[in-house]
Amino acid sequence: MSPVPFTVAIDGPAAAGKGTISRAIAAHFGFAHLDTGLLYRAVGACVMDGADPIEAAQSLQPDALEDGRLRTAEVAQAASRVAVIPEVRAALLDFQRDFARRPGGAVLDGRDICTVIYPQAEAQLFVTASAEVRAERRWKELSAKGGGRTLEQVLEDVRVRDARDSERDTAPMKPAAGARVIDTSDMTIDEAVTAAVSHVEACRSARQL
Ligand code: CDP
Repeated sequence: MSPVPFTVAIDGPAAAGKGTISRAIAAHFGFAHLDTGLLYRAVGACVMDGADPIEAAQSLQPDALEDGRLRTAEVAQAASRVAVIPEVRAALLDFQRDFARRPGGAVLDGRDICTVIYPQAEAQLFVTASAEVRAERRWKELSAKGGGRTLEQVLEDVRVRDARDSERDTAPMKPAAGARVIDTSDMTIDEAVTAAVSHVEACRSARQL
């Protein structure tokens, strides 16, 4: 493991393939991976249980990320509602920045990693796909877990979350100027992973690591 920090920052909307690509990059290069969406989902879950969002973000503990409910459609919406609150975002900042600079390399995926959390990241990606393709992928994931939502409901969920994430005042989701955009609408998982890994390879070669 190289002791030199190297950060891969990956942004993009729900179900575009960020998680799969991030895990593949982490495995390929031996980097640690942080799914930053889980932080917002954990705060959202606390709020569903009656907590104050800012207090929940300020006192978030690692075991909250293990909560089995975090991947549900309800928690996803709660996450995007707490994610518009500037104090919630501020409370989660240091943890994410420390993770980005850990020795040995890190991959962080979310909505604002390239734009706000770590704009110095040596490799930056914006992974996207059409809303229809993303909804179908998410619907299949949720159905496999026995979720009762229809494809139309999941498409509506995706559109609501896209709008909230990209129109908020604090850290809106948008491609960073230096990010390589990968549209996975017409790609297989393997093709998307290959495109992402080769971009990271090129960024590493540029730094002669
Ligand atoms: O997995 P999926 O892409 O559906 O969502 P997620 O990455 O788990 O993120 C859940 C929600 O957290 C998003 O809709 C955003 O509102 C929020 N989020 C954010 O604001 N900033 C991040 N860096 C990550 C997630």
